[in-house]
Amino acid sequence: MFIYPAHSLKGEVTVPGDKSISHRSVMFGAIADGATEVTHFLEGADCLSTIACFRRLGVDIEQRQGRIYIHGNGLHGLKPAAGVLDAGNSGTTVRLVSGILAGQPFPSILTGDASIQKRPMKRIITPLREMGADIAGNNGTDCAPLHIEGKPLRGIQYQSPVSSAQVKSCILLAGLYADGPTCVTEPSLSRNHTELMLSSFGARLLSQDTSVTIWPNPKLVGQKIEVPGDISSAAYFIAAGLLVPNSEILIRNVGINPTRDGMLRAAEAMNASVTKLNVHIISGEPVCDLLVKSSSLIGTEIGGSLVPALIDEIPILAVMAAFAEGTTVIKDAAELKVKESDRIQAVVRNLKAMGAEIEATDDGMVIYGGKPLHCATVHPYADHRIAMSFAVAALCAEGGAEIEDAECVDISYPGFYQDLDALICR
Ligand code: S3P
Repeated sequence: MFIYPAHSLKGEVTVPGDKSISHRSVMFGAIADGATEVTHFLEGADCLSTIACFRRLGVDIEQRQGRIYIHGNGLHGLKPAAGVLDAGNSGTTVRLVSGILAGQPFPSILTGDASIQKRPMKRIITPLREMGADIAGNNGTDCAPLHIEGKPLRGIQYQSPVSSAQVKSCILLAGLYADGPTCVTEPSLSRNHTELMLSSFGARLLSQDTSVTIWPNPKLVGQKIEVPGDISSAAYFIAAGLLVPNSEILIRNVGINPTRDGMLRAAEAMNASVTKLNVHIISGEPVCDLLVKSSSLIGTEIGGSLVPALIDEIPILAVMAAFAEGTTVIKDAAELKVKESDRIQAVVRNLKAMGAEIEATDDGMVIYGGKPLHCATVHPYADHRIAMSFAVAALCAEGGAEIEDAECVDISYPGFYQDLDALICR
C-alpha cells in the first residue's frame, strides 16, 4: 500500500476495542457460570483466535450484531479439544490459555503461527512447572507447540524476572485451579486488566505494589462488559495528529488505565498537545476522549517503570522521536526483541531506510531527531504495530512511503487505513 504525505488531519475517530481486554472477556466468560455479553469487542485476528480456541474447548460463543455472547461452562466445565488449539499470531492467547489448561483434567496441545513458534515460552513454563504443571515445549525446546497434560496445581509465590502481563495473567489463571493462594511479583507493574476484570467476575485478588495474590476456586459469574477503545490503536492517531501540520483530531472513548497510559506521559514530555476530555469509567476501566493538536515535539528519555506502560507504543514513539527536535533515548526495553517481530531491529531498519539518524542498543534505541524523512519501502516483518507506525511516518515523509504486507494490521486493527484516510483533508 502506498501512503502519500498529508497536509492536514481533521475530524473524529473511534478506535476498536482494547485487544487485551477483549481477549480476557472471552477467557473469563468461558470459565464463568452464565452468560457474558461483550460490546465493542475487537474483532481482530488475535481475539478471533481466542474465540476459536474456547469454541474448541466446548464453549458456546455467539457473534451477533457487533456483540459477543459467551455462554460460560464454569470453572471446571471446559472439554478436551479434538486436535491442536491454534492461537494464530497471538502471544496473549498462548500464554493466558496455557495457565487455564495447566489445571484442567485433560491434555491439550497449543500452538500458533511461525512467529508464535519462535517466541519465548520458558517464562510461563518455569512458573507453571513450579505449580506442579506438566507442560513442555516442542521437541525439548521452550517453544510452541506446547504440550500440556493438566494436573492438580499448588499455589506458589513467584518472583517474575520480567514485567509481563501475559506471564502474570498466566500464573493468576493457573492459580484459580491451585490448592492455595498464588502470589506473583514483577519488577515493575504491567497492565492490570486481568486483576480488574477477574475481580468483577467474582475472583478474590489482592494487589499490593507490584505483587498480586489470587485465591483458588472462586465462583465466577458472567458479566456485561463494554470494552474501551484501545490506547495502543489510538496511539497512531495521536502521533499522526501531532506530526501532521494544521491538524486537530478527537479520538473518542480511549482506555486510559494508568498501567497503559505511558504513551500519554511520554507525549507530554515531548511537548505534545493532547487533552483528556470527558473522563469516566466503563466496566471498571477509566476512559476519555483525546483532543490532539499539531505540536512541535522535542526529544525525551523513556525507561524504567514507564516502559511496561507503553511497551506496545514504542515503535510509534520512535517515529515521533524521528520528527522531534533533539535526541530521544529509549532504554530498559529489551522485551521489544521478543514481540511479534524484533521491534528494535524493525524500527531501526525502517527508520534508517527513510533517512532517520537512529542507533539500536541492547535494550532500546537512540534517535537523533529532526532530520527530514524521505520515501522508502517499509518492511513490517509481519508485525501489525510496525505497519501502522510507518503508515504514520509516511504521512509526514517527503514523497510518502510504500508499506509492504500492509494488511498485517488486521491482527489488531481491521479498518485502520480507512479510519486514517477519513481524517486526511484534501
Ligand atoms: C499483553 C501484554 C503485553 C503486550 C501485549 C498484550 C496482554 O505483552 O505487549 O500486546 O494482553 O497481556 P507482555 O506481557 O509480553 O509484555
